[in-house]
Amino acid sequence: MQLSFATLIAFAAGAIGAPATTIENVVPRQAPGGCSSPVQLDAKTNVWTSYTLHPNSFYRAEVEAAAASMSSSDAAKALKVADIGTFLWADTIANIDRVEPALQGVPCNHIFGLVVYDLPGRDCAAKASNGELPVGAINRYKTEYIDKLAALIKKYSNTAFALVIEPDSLPNLVTNSNVAACQQSASGYREGVAYALKTLNLPNVVQYIDAGHGGWLGWNDNLQPGARELANAYKNAGSPSQFRGFATNVAGWNQWDAEPGEFASAPDAQWNKAQNEKKYVELFGAALASAGMPNHAIVDTGRSGKPGGRLEWGDWCNVVNTGFGKRPSSSTGSTLADAFVWVKPGGESDGTSDTTAVRYDSFCGKSDAFKPSPEAGQWHQAFFEQLLKNANPAF
Ligand code: GLC
Repeated sequence: MQLSFATLIAFAAGAIGAPATTIENVVPRQAPGGCSSPVQLDAKTNVWTSYTLHPNSFYRAEVEAAAASMSSSDAAKALKVADIGTFLWADTIANIDRVEPALQGVPCNHIFGLVVYDLPGRDCAAKASNGELPVGAINRYKTEYIDKLAALIKKYSNTAFALVIEPDSLPNLVTNSNVAACQQSASGYREGVAYALKTLNLPNVVQYIDAGHGGWLGWNDNLQPGARELANAYKNAGSPSQFRGFATNVAGWNQWDAEPGEFASAPDAQWNKAQNEKKYVELFGAALASAGMPNHAIVDTGRSGKPGGRLEWGDWCNVVNTGFGKRPSSSTGSTLADAFVWVKPGGESDGTSDTTAVRYDSFCGKSDAFKPSPEAGQWHQAFFEQLLKNANPAF
């Protein structure tokens, strides 16, 4: 059938000047993204048994750009990394803008992983990740950072979120109280973390507070003080209902259940029973329970595929000979460990190796640190290729 010119004009007019009863007007207005109704997470349960960590589009774009400069067989492997669920870091006020685009099209059975990371005086015991907010800028942290994240999470009430709160911050207060910058940061960290927990206590959220790793708060002498510090943050936030526990090994390299453990024969090993992350989760989890804090954990396994790269347990910067590790999963074999997750996006740098840079930290100059390396958070192509080559399981 041929449409007359007049009919075509009528169709076109209908399409442009939409009549009053379009679908948009009939269907009730929904929050964007995710599910068809608001998400209510039960933080008394392990949400990872029903939600998959979302492979976010920001990391996907980084990985696709990386693959574009690789040989075709390596590129095919690299592109598979983009399908692995990974957290997105809101590491500056400006980078909150990265979050909303990545919230588009998150399926209802996915949970969006978000790292809250912008405390005043951030990274007080190191230099590589020093942040944008100076010590004392707690009001800016609250109003320009946390409140904005809260508004976004409320807007996306139909999407589930898992939050990792402020990596390294409270652990630094436990073990680095001799460092002047950590002394100066302490009250802002405590106030800021409590504010974050309280303000981000939203129905579609489950919260985990960072607890370092077994080689940090796992030392016999650090377990109780560490648990008290974290439990105080939880209590000062008013014991939020959506709080589930702690995150370990964030941006770390520790093995999950290696026996006897990568550093078990180090001269000081007798003082630390948490020789792998599984033991750490159990020991620190018990200390947290005594301190009155919910004690379930998620563990970053993203870069733990190949042990042996570090000279010492505390080495953290772009460690050589490492590989992508266990994939995100709720099958951990430990009742306290909710899930393995990828928190640090593998391929983003831990810190610059440029000795003249303001944020140069000597750990990034050690012989087990990959060189050259760009600034923390910047894409590090050679390091990504190393992680891919040594991945276990392989891609
Ligand atoms: C680092 C950086 C931060 C980045 C994060 C994830 O800690 O300081 O900028 O977003 O790692 O790569």
